[in-house]
Amino acid sequence: MLVSAKEMLVKAKQGKYAVGQFNINNLEWTKAILQTAQELKSPVILGVSEGAGKYMCGYTTVVGMVKGMINELGITVPVALHLDHGSYEAAKKCIEAGFSSVMFDGSHYSIEENIEKTKELVELTDKLGLSLEAEVGAIGGEEDGVIGGGEVADPNECKMIADLGVSMLAAGIGNIHGKYPENWGGLNFDVLDDIQKLTGDMPLVLHGGTGIPADMIKRAISLGVSKINVNTECQLSFTAATRKYFEEGKDLQGKGFDPRKVLAPGVEAIKATVKEKMELFGSIGKA
Ligand code: 13P
Repeated sequence: MLVSAKEMLVKAKQGKYAVGQFNINNLEWTKAILQTAQELKSPVILGVSEGAGKYMCGYTTVVGMVKGMINELGITVPVALHLDHGSYEAAKKCIEAGFSSVMFDGSHYSIEENIEKTKELVELTDKLGLSLEAEVGAIGGEEDGVIGGGEVADPNECKMIADLGVSMLAAGIGNIHGKYPENWGGLNFDVLDDIQKLTGDMPLVLHGGTGIPADMIKRAISLGVSKINVNTECQLSFTAATRKYFEEGKDLQGKGFDPRKVLAPGVEAIKATVKEKMELFGSIGKA
């Protein structure tokens, strides 16, 4: 059964661990993540970006696939199906399609407009028992001229959005999507601490989980991060394993051209990455 992410994140915040959001791209991705979560008895959040939703033939297709898999694979751990970085319109579409959780990313709007739209979605998701993630805009980065530094949110704006009653809050603390540049300055723990102090029990979300050193992840969790998003790292491990398959000429041996064989090493690589992250985040055995 699909569940809202709210309860699993409240538990994670209390228990000082984080639940991983792993973005999905297709059937293989979804199956690999669900099977790993089940094997390790970990709650899990499946992230779907608008682009990935489109690629997978729309949100209703995604809901059908995920629900079908939970049923057919006998998945009993809590699974949330979550829209990642959604527009206001996409959030509404996903709610209609049967997602159990949505992110409305209003960080590019003015704080007033972000508040207004987030508030509407809080009402809608509350009524339906779904979880809602909001994101708060950037203030930093521009003045110190640090190249490759991520956004840094204003803790007071974080409090304004948290007070609307969202289930979880994404706030930039120098994190960025994709690989981190060589000269990355690391996470801004002072700002994270300020945000946590102002927002209290609110589960905080760390985006850009790929490539953040383990000690920083642990420290972020100790300062209130309860959800960590990982996307690129699964793509990198999938592609490296697939590349190896072809480089070793496996596709030319026997029935090595069978797509189920071609994709198998990549699937195993995703599983290994998800396992490594769940160990680091501390979510194993918490289902
Ligand atoms: P990465 O691709 O850097 O892991 O970030 C994922 C993410 O934050 C999705 O919202």
